[in-house]
Amino acid sequence: MKSILLTGGAGYIGSHTAKLLCQKGYRPVVFDNLSIGHQWAVNRGPFVKADLADKDQIRQTLEDYEIEAVVHLAASAYVGESMENPRKYFRNNVVNSTNLLEAMDDAGVKKIVFSSTCALYGNPETLPLTESHRKHPINPYGDSKLFVEHMLKWHGEVYGLNWTALRYFNAGGADPDCEIGEDHDPETHLIPLVIYAALGKIKQLKVFGTDYETPDGTAIRDYIHVNDLASAHLAALEKLDKKSTENVFNLGTGIGNSVKEVIKSVEKITGLKVPFQESPRRMGDPPALVADSQLARNKLGWVPSCQSLDDIVETAWNWHKKHHCS
Ligand SMILES: NC(=O)c1ccc[n+]([C@@H]2O[C@H](COP(=O)([O-])OP(=O)(O)OC[C@H]3O[C@@H](n4cnc5c(N)ncnc54)[C@H](O)[C@@H]3O)[C@@H](O)[C@H]2O)c1
Repeated sequence: MKSILLTGGAGYIGSHTAKLLCQKGYRPVVFDNLSIGHQWAVNRGPFVKADLADKDQIRQTLEDYEIEAVVHLAASAYVGESMENPRKYFRNNVVNSTNLLEAMDDAGVKKIVFSSTCALYGNPETLPLTESHRKHPINPYGDSKLFVEHMLKWHGEVYGLNWTALRYFNAGGADPDCEIGEDHDPETHLIPLVIYAALGKIKQLKVFGTDYETPDGTAIRDYIHVNDLASAHLAALEKLDKKSTENVFNLGTGIGNSVKEVIKSVEKITGLKVPFQESPRRMGDPPALVADSQLARNKLGWVPSCQSLDDIVETAWNWHKKHHCS
């Protein structure tokens, strides 16, 4: 059985990926400091509670568990916080990724799949976004991820690392078995926030920007089911052996949905009213981000199985209902 190290495996996307890897016959080994993630989300394979700042501990873990490949999800991932505290982002996302890559090199582990982001494109010049679109991050979070992609490239060229960077668009939804789901504190992602507003956990949802040049004036994003992200990691891991000229892949459905469409979908699925307040645009929020994921389809053989916003919202709602209403 191949052992895969998941840094950040106690987090939202990591826990769903661990579950899928386990179902497919891998042994997921979770490495997480629980700064954001949850112990309850780690229910597949061994768990090492540790921080990527500790390079010796990373190397020890790679050796102890005879790790074949790494899925590197651990990061600080709040865009707003990164504007206030860039130091945290460059230390946790860049310096700690350096620790990981050096520990991997020392331990002879040559394969990595990295969690990258559409935030590295900045304001789109054309839509949908292809991987070759200009990279011009407008916040330290996006820049920190781009930096890691550059490090991966050079570790590939100089040390023979096999790597893939998956540029996720907006993850949403939850495990259909309701074992795991999205639970961040603070929560900044739209779908859980809309559900919290419907449940009265927050007084009202703030809709940032209602005067964009979009059909209903609110910002458009490409929502991708968390299990479709998990299946892309599996596909990427299975292709890592083969030398490829393509290392970076967008992951989205190619369908854009506005903030108001998300609100409508939550109202339809839950039968509850979502109180919201129209607020000014936030600095650095592009009007629309939609992925062209043709490359991932062609080269990884990846096809997102969940194409509709309602299906994503429904799995998220089922999970929140179980965890916040019982
Ligand atoms: N959620 C999204 O929509 C989205 C979109 C694009 C990219 N991403 C990227 O995907 C990855 C996972 O996102 P998520 O939503 O699951 O985030 P998450 O915060 O739920 O998970 C990240 C995990 O990393 C852990 N972690 C952070 N720093 C660590 C460190 N120094 N040492 C050990 N563990 C550490 C946290 O405790 C957490 O469990 C992140 O790298 C994020 O940047 C997420």
